[in-house]
Amino acid sequence: MCGIFAYCSYLQDKDRKTICEILCNGLARQEYRGYDSAGIGIDGDTPGEMFFFKEVGKVAGLRKKIAEASVDTSKTFVSQVSIAHTRWATHGPPSIVNCHPLRSDLKADFTVVHNGIVTNAAALRLVLQKRGYKFESETDTEAVAILTKYIYDSQADKRITFPDLVKTVLKELEGSFAFVFKSRHYPNEVVTARRGSPLLIGVKTEKKLKVDFVDVEFHAPEGENKGLEALAPTSPGGLLAPPSGGSNLLRTQSRAFMSEDGLPQPIEFFVASDASAIIEHTKRVLYLEDDDIAHIAEGELHIHRLRRNEGEPQVAAHRMIETLELELAEIMKGKFDHFMQKEIYEQPESVVNTMRGRVNFDNNSITLGGLRAYLPIIRRGRRIVFCACGTSYHSAIATRAIFEELTEIPVSVELASDFLDRKTPIFRDDVCVFVSQSGETADTILALRYCLERGALCVGVVNTVGSTMSRETHCGVHINAGPEIGVASTKAYTSQYIALLMIALQLSEDRMSLISRRTQIIEGLHALPGQIREVLALDKSLQEFATNDLHNQRSLLLMGRGYQYATCLEGALKIKEISYMHSEGILAGELKHGPLALIDENMPVIIVMTQDSLYPKVQSAFSQITARKAQPIVVCNEEDDAIPKGVKTIRVPKTVDCLQGILNIIPLQLLSYHLAIKNGFDVDFPRNLAKSVTTE
Ligand code: F6R
Repeated sequence: MCGIFAYCSYLQDKDRKTICEILCNGLARQEYRGYDSAGIGIDGDTPGEMFFFKEVGKVAGLRKKIAEASVDTSKTFVSQVSIAHTRWATHGPPSIVNCHPLRSDLKADFTVVHNGIVTNAAALRLVLQKRGYKFESETDTEAVAILTKYIYDSQADKRITFPDLVKTVLKELEGSFAFVFKSRHYPNEVVTARRGSPLLIGVKTEKKLKVDFVDVEFHAPEGENKGLEALAPTSPGGLLAPPSGGSNLLRTQSRAFMSEDGLPQPIEFFVASDASAIIEHTKRVLYLEDDDIAHIAEGELHIHRLRRNEGEPQVAAHRMIETLELELAEIMKGKFDHFMQKEIYEQPESVVNTMRGRVNFDNNSITLGGLRAYLPIIRRGRRIVFCACGTSYHSAIATRAIFEELTEIPVSVELASDFLDRKTPIFRDDVCVFVSQSGETADTILALRYCLERGALCVGVVNTVGSTMSRETHCGVHINAGPEIGVASTKAYTSQYIALLMIALQLSEDRMSLISRRTQIIEGLHALPGQIREVLALDKSLQEFATNDLHNQRSLLLMGRGYQYATCLEGALKIKEISYMHSEGILAGELKHGPLALIDENMPVIIVMTQDSLYPKVQSAFSQITARKAQPIVVCNEEDDAIPKGVKTIRVPKTVDCLQGILNIIPLQLLSYHLAIKNGFDVDFPRNLAKSVTTE
């Protein structure tokens, strides 16, 4: 849901061409977060002037527009700050006027890029319009830019600092956001802040930094800004109490950005929604927390806190400068045509990475370091609640049965949005497991906070290290699938599946009665990477199914039961999201309760019929649909000779029942990929979708 990027360089000559390239690369790396439009805002030719370049669609279009523009690309800047944005539209359709950066006025006194949704933007817009401010766009973000100008203009002496100004603005905002603000009035400074949307800052220097953390700076309560009560539509004209200045600053750690020898040095800062936009410049990053306000100026970074309530305590804190464990190659496509294809093909390695250091195949044991201290609490829990969205939800459905079998604790699986809509009762002895690739999905984060408030133990099963969910849960497991960039989730699903299974195995380690079952599963895990390679070798035949059997169809039903119900749901989701074909996962047990009415000789069906304890029941579903002239494609095991002659099959290796879904989903991932390619669709950037859904 939108990617934001800012580039700040101090004490070094950077020409405009380089700056534009850095901005466009930062956007291209985050394009998976939204690709409705892309835009940048850079310093102009005269002090305070800004140039904007904006284009509807992907970053490639923006690059072209910049290349064709008649600006002096050789102009150099000793210090400069510039901002950029790739958009997933929420307020207002994709268009140049709605493209970020959004400005407060024609002179661009204040410019803003934003990820998230400001839910009270309509009310703010109304108030500001009444005060004579003109709006150019339909976005919520523009209200923030104009509000900033309004507050600035209202200051008699204009001595307010940039972070204090932004602090005043943020107090008026509802919803979720990550922002970067740039201003004509504060040259070479940016302020960036987050609440609910991810944000990190990369730091690049030649010499080593003096310290590897930044203190959070607090202001004494006296004289603190009282907010914008005066801005309420009904209130009379009065204006703000003066925001606090720098004078009552309690602590500071600006020396962090001096080199070890204590001298200021050339320095670059990169602000981004995602580490993938920073990694090509530096691995040294700070993750901002909700309500952090970071101020970059004069080659220094200061972090302030926004106190929303007067009584909120000021707690000393600092933000560590961490080293990213991410390689540039991991976020490149390499020999593949698309990220999705690369990520499907990475699965033999990504599942190993999920298990690495955790599964001991010599003694069939599991060690999940991030959970160990909490195992007794989880075992005592009255129930386990899985909570997730989309593909992550399907991984929870896929592993519920084995979780219940191994732990004997009741498990419920919740879609995060519905869980919140229902205000589900949650108690202190509940264990809530939040599954998420990005760790930033708004619905799941809100569900997590809801459960934290109610005192439940909150466990994260997350791919993205440093994400909000991995930081806010009490404990958890990183799935270690590596960066997933294709919007359609593939390798994260199989890794989530294994991570959840490993949790169940670890929880059941002391059950003597389960030794042979656990051994069977762990041996199955051992064989899995090789079996995944065998499934990937089916790619050519899956391409043929896509071309010959399915690509002209309007609809596709996928049916299975037991462990394979999740496979059908996930397969159907993959197909609909990237090939835009209507497709539905059906529990085969429900067939006769309705969906059977859809079946005739024209309805394409895939039936997942691998050999487990429910095989006879799926066979009868097969008979019921073939009796109504359906000609299903059957996903079955290699050795299965009970499939009638003439039936089209996708044959996969056999594994333990609870692992079979990992092998079965891969042909469906490949099928969806080939369907999308056959239809000429942009596999990595399906229409209307974004990778990280940071809005409700
Ligand atoms: C589908 C897909 C989405 C995500 C969902 C949750 O391919 O990617 O359905 O699974 O938006 O996202 P995460 O796992 O990041 O919480």
